[in-house]
Amino acid sequence: MCGIFAYVNYLQPKKREEIVQVLLQGLQRMEYRGYDSAGIAIDGSNDLNDMHSKVALLRKTGKVSVLEDFIKELPPNSLDMSMVLNVHCGIAHTRWATHGSPKDVNSHPQRSNSDSEFVVVHNGIITNFKEIKEYLTKKGHKFESETDTEVIAKLAQHVHDRYPGVNFRQLVEIVVQQLEGAFALAFKSTKFPGQLVATRRGSPLLVGIKSTGDLRSNNIPVLFSKGRRLFSSTATHLRDASFTSENQSVLNLSQSMISLTPRCPALDSADNSTTSTKALHSSSVIEEELGIEYFVASDASAIVEHTKQVIFLEDDDVVFVEDGTLSIQRISKLPTDGQANDVQKREVISLNMELQEIMKGSFSTFMQKEIFEQPDSVVNTMRGRVLPNGQVVLGGITDYLPDIKRCRRLILVACGTSYHSAIACRQILEELSELPVVVELASDFLDRQTPIFRDDVCMFVSQSGETADTLMALRYCKPHGALTIGITNTVGSSICRESHCGVHINAGPEIGVASTKAYTSQIVALLMFALTLSDDRISMQSRRNHVVQALRELPEMIRRVLQLDSQVSSIADQIYKEKSLLVMGRGFNFATCLEGALKIKELSYMHCEGIMSGELKHGPLAMVDEHLKICMVICQDEVYKKSLNALQQVVARSGVPMIIADESVPLSDLAGMKQVLRVPRTVDCLQSILTVIPLQLLAFHIAEKNGFNVDRPRNLAKSVTVE
Ligand code: F6R
Repeated sequence: MCGIFAYVNYLQPKKREEIVQVLLQGLQRMEYRGYDSAGIAIDGSNDLNDMHSKVALLRKTGKVSVLEDFIKELPPNSLDMSMVLNVHCGIAHTRWATHGSPKDVNSHPQRSNSDSEFVVVHNGIITNFKEIKEYLTKKGHKFESETDTEVIAKLAQHVHDRYPGVNFRQLVEIVVQQLEGAFALAFKSTKFPGQLVATRRGSPLLVGIKSTGDLRSNNIPVLFSKGRRLFSSTATHLRDASFTSENQSVLNLSQSMISLTPRCPALDSADNSTTSTKALHSSSVIEEELGIEYFVASDASAIVEHTKQVIFLEDDDVVFVEDGTLSIQRISKLPTDGQANDVQKREVISLNMELQEIMKGSFSTFMQKEIFEQPDSVVNTMRGRVLPNGQVVLGGITDYLPDIKRCRRLILVACGTSYHSAIACRQILEELSELPVVVELASDFLDRQTPIFRDDVCMFVSQSGETADTLMALRYCKPHGALTIGITNTVGSSICRESHCGVHINAGPEIGVASTKAYTSQIVALLMFALTLSDDRISMQSRRNHVVQALRELPEMIRRVLQLDSQVSSIADQIYKEKSLLVMGRGFNFATCLEGALKIKELSYMHCEGIMSGELKHGPLAMVDEHLKICMVICQDEVYKKSLNALQQVVARSGVPMIIADESVPLSDLAGMKQVLRVPRTVDCLQSILTVIPLQLLAFHIAEKNGFNVDRPRNLAKSVTVE
């Protein structure tokens, strides 16, 4: 749901074309978040003595590549691309339209006036924009777009005109205090050249820091600013320094000063904060001028190729870059924020993500790559958690296990694919925990204001960890006293941070808008969770052993399912022009029907419905004839006989379904079926992972054969940060 990106180079000379390239590349990495239009704002004067006086606002409807082509074709005299800029701030945006259709004027950055004195990029939604627009219109501001965001740029101008003395950060704080809704914002202004202000409330945002000194490996213990220059040194700024034990540094913010206190050789032997501080104080002062680059982005995939040193921002943090110094402060005078302007501590996290993880490699699309990554991604989900002795340990929830086991209900809340993973695991969770398990769609859960009690355990399943409905549901449950658990794929996401405890699914970055590997890893994570709840039940030992053994065999079985690819592709050849497809199954495979149908409709725009085959005779059977395309999932499990009954009901109405069956289903039971996809047989509660993969492949092939954009289906975005 929109990606925002900002880049500041300070004493780090860059040609304008290099700056543009950094901005465009940042947008490309986040394009899955929205691709209706894209835009950048950079300093636009061709006069080196006056380079900050104009902003060049370059915006285009369509994908980032359209913007890139547009920039390439700019007349050579309009923007000198070879001009070297020593200090510069650029902001950029890739859009998923919410207010106003995709067109150039609605693209971001939005501007305050025709001189673009204040420009802003926004991810989220401003719910009170109409009131602000009305107010500003009365004050004489003329609006040109239909976006909610334009009010922010105009409000910034209004505040600046009214309070000319306030600095850029204070100005943004005043603006933000007028806004309702969800937002991550980055501002640039000709009035404050080379400066950047960014802030968030409800939408994700992080900052990446890259200095010319290597923060990890050299002897630079501290980065600080002095006047307009950056130095490495040990100095009095360290008074408040403290250190975490292992490989994380602590960022110490005091007044408007950032002190980065990286782990360095001098400190390696120090094991607590007191000695660490001492070690630093006794080091000699090295005054060495440093260049620095800051990156601000909606997610880490846009930053990781530049630096792995990042800070995840919290709601109401305001980041201010001035003279190359970065400070983070809380928005002051917030009624709810008793700690306004107190010294803030933020961890500088070292990202555990490689660039190649977010590149396509030899695959044609990210989605295809992610489907084929599943033998590895499920291993990553299990790594270090399924122990050789069969025990399952989930470090993130260990301390809370006694409370979880004693709870009144387990409530799983999620949207879309993540909801389907919860459906896939409901039965095994009920069986192994012996607790009532409720699975809720986040939006409906909120609409109903579902009663929640302090002895409930509420789990929030979300790949991105930022989905607005799921996050709102979490925020709804917390004041009711429930224990909250996040199951996410995104370290540092809002759901991660705001829940009491959690399990990270470790599937790696998922770029394709249609979720695939995150789905199978969510199932594995939830299954491991169920196993931890039953670790003390002797009566369940043999069932547990069986499941753990199946988990170990899972990667190899997924590899075998992926070999069906060409068979699936030929089925897609036959059906890719169809208007409708029904996917039927029951028991553990019902989730496969829902998820397979979702994949097909979102990628191929074909009507596709997942049907519980027990419900066939209550309505859907009326649709069945020799023309209707049907897929049935049939496995040798507890509901096998009933699944065969459903098949007979369909065949009796001249239906000719394609079948996804496990290898143990006898041929005789599938007599007359022309298209049968055989997947390996595993334990019932893991079978849905093997049966869903052929449908992921089918969705991919149908979309490709129709010439649709597989990674970026129309009207959708990866991370839905509005309700
Ligand atoms: C479908 C898909 C969506 C998401 C849903 C929730 O392929 O990806 O249905 O599953 O928007 O997103 P997360 O899991 O990020 O909360």
